[in-house]
Amino acid sequence: MRIFSGIRPTGDLHLGNYLGAIKQWIPLQQINECVFCIVDLHAITTPYDPKKLQKNILETTAIYLAAGINPEKSIIFVQSQIKEHAELAWLLETITPMGELKRMTQFKEKSEQHKDYINAGLLNYPVLMAADVLLYKGEAVPVGKDQEQHIELMRSLAKKFNQKFGQTFKEPESLILKEGSKIMSLTDPKKKMSKSDEPKSCIFLFDAPEDITKKIMSATTDSGKDIKYNITKKSGISNLLTIYSLLSGKTTQELEKEFKGKNYGEFKKSLAEVVVNYLEPFRRKQKELASREAYIQEILKKGQDRAQIIAKATMQEVKEKMGLV
Ligand code: TYM
Repeated sequence: MRIFSGIRPTGDLHLGNYLGAIKQWIPLQQINECVFCIVDLHAITTPYDPKKLQKNILETTAIYLAAGINPEKSIIFVQSQIKEHAELAWLLETITPMGELKRMTQFKEKSEQHKDYINAGLLNYPVLMAADVLLYKGEAVPVGKDQEQHIELMRSLAKKFNQKFGQTFKEPESLILKEGSKIMSLTDPKKKMSKSDEPKSCIFLFDAPEDITKKIMSATTDSGKDIKYNITKKSGISNLLTIYSLLSGKTTQELEKEFKGKNYGEFKKSLAEVVVNYLEPFRRKQKELASREAYIQEILKKGQDRAQIIAKATMQEVKEKMGLV
């Protein structure tokens, strides 16, 4: 299968991005053809600092590598380096109903967050996302739960294009994990972990060990004292149990047994240790980054060359079908 996914290089990727998306990319590489993108054209739809964008792109690439993406196998590249993404997005926009875009949850949330930055790019964000995947004739898209609605639109655009212009695209399915597809905020476990929230609600992959420990120790929990998974009554503890389980490989039932009779403080202390140790290679990679910039650039260039071949062929086909050549 051809797999496609991407992350916005907005700096400071968090544990939600890792557990919901990147972690599931690694095993997929074994038997599939994977394309992993750094979606900088999406990152500029919300306020950003142009001076930091290149650094964020390199950091995101370093995270892909630290997590275990193998650049010899998978294609890793930067979206803006392949102009066909923007070109196909424009063509797909001509078959996208405005109403569908306006009702997208992410558009509504981001418009609410950045009231003075509601741009057309933000509205068209899901069409560019559809172009990303369809350009490579992607069949499956591993993402977190919050992207489900965008993949639905992607499927309907693929279908509509095929009906209008002839069979061209597969309808990509979303790959959403049962556990980890929605990691919640540490300060408000009813909300998803998000980098646009206060820093202590999020564990960033490059956080210093002492910050990770502080954030976990002060994470919001209920007034009870049992370490039990119950998403409605004990959402805070349940979220921490999910994180513990995904990073340690133990099931939540095993963890409940292990921490029977122990208090929240003991559990959180142990979780902090697990998280600190798990993220150690990410901190190391970030430090290495300064001296390895040329290596990372080389990986991105190779990825671009490989991606370009596929993108060019699809665009040629699409243009022919649409009567543009
Ligand atoms: P971005 O950068 O907002 O998110 C990257 C990935 O992280 C997942 N995610 C989470 N998963 C679990 N719990 C959370 N709290 C959490 N927060 C974020 C997101 O679901 C996503 O998988 N629009 C995409 C980027 C994109 C893309 C694409 C993805 C652009 N083109 C084509 C797939 C295919 C996004 O959400 O990025």
